Amino acid sequence: GAAVEADISALKPGEKMTVEWRGKPVWILRRTPEQLESLKKTDALVADPKSERKPAEVTPMETTRNEWRSIKPEILVVVGICSHLGCSPSDRLVAGPQPSLPDDWQGGFLCPCHGSTFDMAGRVFKNKPAPDNLEVPPYTFLTDSKLLIG
Ligand code: FES
Repeated sequence: GAAVEADISALKPGEKMTVEWRGKPVWILRRTPEQLESLKKTDALVADPKSERKPAEVTPMETTRNEWRSIKPEILVVVGICSHLGCSPSDRLVAGPQPSLPDDWQGGFLCPCHGSTFDMAGRVFKNKPAPDNLEVPPYTFLTDSKLLIG
């Protein structure tokens, strides 16, 4: 499939944008220091903290097999499709109590179909219907503000 360019120069900390790649939504999120810090708290709560279950499918690039699941810590790039039955999760990017989420919610994504929740690195929480973390697609930085996805 054709690779897609994304200009992230206008993306502010805490903001997310979506581009389409191979008919799928790819989310690009510029994480804040707090959002990155929150991953330490969710490490013990997610089902596959290091995305080791299906590395070839879920994190095909060696450069994204790290604690941030990304090339640059602040820039998260994931396919916004739930690994359960393919719904697109909604943003719950703000930490703190929210309806239907634990009081110590650190921010992330919530699948409206069957309630799978994902952290700020797209890692699925334990005991949720989704079996795998959100896929990190192949991508490279063309410049500091331009990504090539695919
Ligand atoms: Fe996401 Fe079922 S499709 S939880």
